[in-house]
Amino acid sequence: MNQDSRVYVAGHRGLVGSAIWRELQRQGFRNLIGRTHQELDLTDTPAVARFYEKEKPEYVFVAAAKVGGILANQQQPAEFLFENLAIQNNIIHGAWLAGVKKLLFLGSSCIYPKLAPQPLKEEYLLTGPLEPTNEWYAVAKIAGIKMCQAFRRQYGCDFISAMPTNMYGPGDNYDLQTSHVLPALIRKFHEAKTSGAPKVTCWGTGLPLREFLYSDDLAAACVFLMQNYSEEQFINVGSGADVSIRELAGQVRRIVGFSGEIVWDPSKPDGTPRKLMDSSRLFALGWKPRVDLETGMRLAYTDFLGRLSQAPK
Ligand SMILES: NC(=O)c1ccc[n+]([C@@H]2O[C@H](COP(=O)([O-])OP(=O)(O)OC[C@H]3O[C@@H](n4cnc5c(N)ncnc54)[C@H](OP(=O)(O)O)[C@@H]3O)[C@@H](O)[C@H]2O)c1
Repeated sequence: MNQDSRVYVAGHRGLVGSAIWRELQRQGFRNLIGRTHQELDLTDTPAVARFYEKEKPEYVFVAAAKVGGILANQQQPAEFLFENLAIQNNIIHGAWLAGVKKLLFLGSSCIYPKLAPQPLKEEYLLTGPLEPTNEWYAVAKIAGIKMCQAFRRQYGCDFISAMPTNMYGPGDNYDLQTSHVLPALIRKFHEAKTSGAPKVTCWGTGLPLREFLYSDDLAAACVFLMQNYSEEQFINVGSGADVSIRELAGQVRRIVGFSGEIVWDPSKPDGTPRKLMDSSRLFALGWKPRVDLETGMRLAYTDFLGRLSQAPK
């Protein structure tokens, strides 16, 4: 891949896709190709074929997906399975037909069995039952990994897959109904501070351990893998460190400047006690994250404040 290569980022307006786009721009790539969902519905096979014919991308990042939390997965299992399969089938199959030089498919840590040992190693894939709450999404993602592997084996396509850990960063979703834990904490503490509330109640015991990676680091890892990795084995992308939700909440409280109390509600579910990826395969290639959690959370809070000030009053 060089700075004149034609690079398509599918889902370039999403959290991951926009970070990959920014990273490519930062590295001087001049021929970036993007389409919004309105411009190109990636579940539409003939439209995707026409897009490949017209744009002739040489490199493809697959960061488009129907993404959502437990509730959305439970309410729309058919869409989560069908739309994700359709999006990735069209992009991956289309890339083979169009002679794309290299493709990177993005999955997620939910592909691993619910009771897999921690930290999660790549070889634990398909060694046990999935977490039922998001199995529709996970099954589609596993099919995407297998698609890349099958096209590599049968047709020699240089298609690779990366499995990122929990991500956060600019452009995150702060809707309390659908957001992930870190943006939800940022919003809760900020609202408590501005309303002068004496306490913030957080779900569960606060004891579960989770890993977080700043979106710009994930994007840098994706570009690094596109340039340095060409194996059939998919690869984990994490920060290598986890933190308890209790510690995380304490850090967010301090960054936001909320002086009230944190109350834990143990009647709410905790989820898996620990979720940490083993990213040693990636680190052994020479890549390391640059943004530590404290710095990343400060940047995320600044982004949150910026978007609040732009929101219609
Ligand atoms: N966020 C994380 O913590 C995280 C962690 C690990 C892995 N990942 C993976 O990274 C990938 C991207 O996730 P994300 O968090 O960036 O999600 P996101 O912010 O929701 O972005 C997904 C993008 O895909 C687009 N899209 C969805 N359906 C489409 C369709 N039918 N046609 C065209 N575009 C479509 C969306 O456009 P619209 O919004 O307009 O529909 C959106 O721009 C996913 O594969 C996810 O599993 C994310």
